[in-house]
Amino acid sequence: MIDAPIARVWAVLRDFNSHDQWHDVVAESRIEGSDRGDQVGCVRSFTLKDGNRIREQLLTLSDTDYKSTYCIVEATVPLQRYVATLKLKPVTDGDRTFWHWESTFATPPGQERELREMVARDVYEAGFANLRRYLGQGGDRRGAAGAAMPQALPLPARRSVLHRYGGPEVLQAGDGEAPAPNAGEVRIRQRAIGVNYFDVYLRKGWIPSMLPLPGVLGMEAAGTVVDVGANVNGVLPGDRVAYLGAQPGAYCSLRTVPAEWVVRLPAAVADEVAAAMLLKGITADFLLRDLGHVRAGTRLLVHAAAGGVGLLVCAWASRRGAIVIGTVSSEEKARVAREYGCAHPIVTREHRFADTVQAQFGGVDVVIDGIGDAAREENFAALARRGHWISLGQASGALQPISADRLVQKSITFSRPVVFDYVATQAELAERATRVWNALADGTLKTPPIERHALGDAAGAHERLESRRTIGALVLIA
Ligand SMILES: NC(=O)c1ccc[n+]([C@@H]2O[C@H](COP(=O)([O-])OP(=O)(O)OC[C@H]3O[C@@H](n4cnc5c(N)ncnc54)[C@H](OP(=O)(O)O)[C@@H]3O)[C@@H](O)[C@H]2O)c1
Repeated sequence: MIDAPIARVWAVLRDFNSHDQWHDVVAESRIEGSDRGDQVGCVRSFTLKDGNRIREQLLTLSDTDYKSTYCIVEATVPLQRYVATLKLKPVTDGDRTFWHWESTFATPPGQERELREMVARDVYEAGFANLRRYLGQGGDRRGAAGAAMPQALPLPARRSVLHRYGGPEVLQAGDGEAPAPNAGEVRIRQRAIGVNYFDVYLRKGWIPSMLPLPGVLGMEAAGTVVDVGANVNGVLPGDRVAYLGAQPGAYCSLRTVPAEWVVRLPAAVADEVAAAMLLKGITADFLLRDLGHVRAGTRLLVHAAAGGVGLLVCAWASRRGAIVIGTVSSEEKARVAREYGCAHPIVTREHRFADTVQAQFGGVDVVIDGIGDAAREENFAALARRGHWISLGQASGALQPISADRLVQKSITFSRPVVFDYVATQAELAERATRVWNALADGTLKTPPIERHALGDAAGAHERLESRRTIGALVLIA
């Protein structure tokens, strides 16, 4: 048992190269090549104080399960086929940590007992005692972790960074750091990052004031809290959380954000699902409840109905009894959209839908439009009298100004909402997020298809999103 919170213990142990700082038997250690100490496959090469030399390889590392495994690949001590597992469990009583550490190995005949005792005493028992002492003395102040530790330092982070605006290729893998959390802030080890079409607008340089260069994209992510600053209530190190905020910067492995952006995740919602659904689900929530007033019988037209936001809107609106009509660019997308509640998909790559909508439904009461300029004239034509045009985004290009004279012809209303204004306080964010998770739990929403890309391949994710070939949501895995 270690008398420290699990996040603090894990922050030290997950670094495969940290043992020369806390374990007495280790003289010095380095990671071979240019690998990082938390990269599966990396090899640590170390010498013991008695002169023995060992090379060990990291086999698995799970931030979700607080677990790692490793093996000896070469050693001057005769431990053969040595494979070790290290696992932490939180002990809620006193916010302590249970550390389970075990290994299997073979030895030359006759040395079984001697080597078993050596491992038990000099590796494990000494290791437990050494780490307790190290944490007790605040040895991890080098920045490994530490809840609310005043001298905590920045921690290294991988990120996807852009140095100029442009196509997907401007997204480059790089290194950065996450500062120690100030008052009101939370530092999060991110596992899954939501990719949104909005990221594409920023990447293209459409809103430079929001993304000065060099810049990091991304408005949402999910992961585990490493540490929190002063005056943070409701989240603790080790909690699984997701966040959503109006300043980009989420395309990274570790990020420090305002606590008011953060919500805790129910156990049933995996990090990847949270990253796929938080911003998009909350968008569906405000579109249908606050803005569209969508109810039984509402004729609703959703563009990109098989997209990240589209599928969630279709599912939620159909559950409310709306007549859900959606545009999609392929038969395959039509099939999936139908599965998610879009009863009337219209397959059109060129955004020709108004005639069908007028002929079959007499126009629509609400159109949710993430397409922008290419659908402009068809939207006017498809709307029913007193219809509401919600201009959500502009994947096809910037929507040219809408004249009030055009609106007056059918008493059309026009709105241009932004999700961040609908989660302006932590309470509102928590309320909307809870509605999304509840809708998922009771079957109103089902998880959309999730396309996963490595954080280092953010460019590939953007290429796919802009190709119009994706169905559902995209996430980056850190
Ligand atoms: N205002 C807000 O707060 C807010 C919040 C979330 C999302 N949004 C907006 O909602 C829309 C959907 O976002 P998302 O992240 O869920 O993306 P998405 O719908 O998964 O992907 C975009 C989809 O747009 C369609 N599209 C039509 N013309 C396109 C073109 N010329 N280039 C690329 N795509 C085109 C494609 O579907 P088809 O091929 O089937 O047409 C494509 O799959 C975006 O406009 C986004 O900006 C706004």
